[in-house]
Amino acid sequence: MSAIISIVVPTYNEKENPRRVYEALSAAFNSHDFELIFVDDSKDKESIAILNGIQEEFEEVRVLHRENEKGLGTAVVRGFEMAQGDMIAVMDADLQHPPELLVEMVEQMKLGYDIVIPSRFVPGGDDGGLSPFRKFVSWTARVMGQFALKRVRAVSDPTSGFFLVKRKVIEGIELRPIGWKILIEVLVRGNYATVIEVPYAFQPRIAGSSNMSMKEQWNYIKHLVRLISDSPEDRRMYLFALVGVSGVLINLLIYAMFVHLHMAIWLAGFTSGTIAMISNFYFNDRLTWNDSRQGFWLNRFIKYVLTSLIGIAINTVILSALVYGVHFHYLFANIIGICVAMVWNFIVNNFWTWNMEKKKIEVTISLGNSENKNLETSKG
Ligand code: GDD
Ligand code: MN
Repeated sequence: MSAIISIVVPTYNEKENPRRVYEALSAAFNSHDFELIFVDDSKDKESIAILNGIQEEFEEVRVLHRENEKGLGTAVVRGFEMAQGDMIAVMDADLQHPPELLVEMVEQMKLGYDIVIPSRFVPGGDDGGLSPFRKFVSWTARVMGQFALKRVRAVSDPTSGFFLVKRKVIEGIELRPIGWKILIEVLVRGNYATVIEVPYAFQPRIAGSSNMSMKEQWNYIKHLVRLISDSPEDRRMYLFALVGVSGVLINLLIYAMFVHLHMAIWLAGFTSGTIAMISNFYFNDRLTWNDSRQGFWLNRFIKYVLTSLIGIAINTVILSALVYGVHFHYLFANIIGICVAMVWNFIVNNFWTWNMEKKKIEVTISLGNSENKNLETSKG
């Protein structure tokens, strides 16, 4: 019979810690309600021997030892492949993630949530287990992830290695993490509609030492870049900006050419502006919103031109107000106007011209009793 909950635990030279994890879990769950999967990359013989011993001793425990591979993220993905449960949890081996909390997490999932994330950063949570320097690094990583990826933005503790998902969230989905942060991988690529965050206190490590390193920070940046480029909703903004820059270059080039050919300045400006707008439309249609080209292109083109005209009007009003009203420098005023117009153009084109629907993910925060509070929703 398949286990109800699979707990995937990556281990690297953890020595006695895995046995403590098993003991805590077997105190919290009935033995036929869980399976414990260690994915181990240890190099030290003692750790390997201990894991093999636990596997022989307890039937709930399975161990995969990887000889020539390393990496926390890929280890967890291997664990997902082995997992047989309907709910799958990920947890560190060093007890910094309290195993008892899994009981509450499973209760929350049974209320219907697709993903349960213990959080250090909601009321009742505590990030006490890290040094001030690690806290600062961790904060920076979190903010970068939340800035870069929409689905990560809605969650308060997306860089943690502790969470529970329904099987369907990851089933049939190709996960390709780089480095440590497997949760952002699941949040961006996973298949889900609701998330609940549960407060918890990150514990100090009682044995062994952290494997976090500078190399992992670099891996994290590579991971973010890969996720942005693989995720249509996140890469759109960057493509839009890129197309915008290409438009400016095309405009300048054609303008210079026409002026060189003795065309009247006003006509050269008008023509190059129009050509740049057409080219921007073309590339936005083929690149930025490539996945949502519906119906006849002329419809989208007319909407695009209307949006751009209103954008120009917005820019004109703002720069006039700033220059005449509060005496800003005329170039600075234009930059502010352009930024506001760009945001306008992006949003209106997204929801009107290319008609992207808002995909809603609901994020709830648990208040520690049965009342759950709906705090944030993110649109995609
Ligand atoms: N299989 C495998 N391979 N496991 C690994 C590897 C690896 O290359 N590197 C680390 N691990 C295991 C460790 O044995 C431990 O169980 C877990 O991954 C986390 O490693 P730690 O070294 O204890 O990390 P940390 O405490 O500094 O950071 C943890 O907590 C942070 C806060 O939640 C990690 O989970 C971070 O991702 C998290 O941000
Ligand atoms: Mn740890």
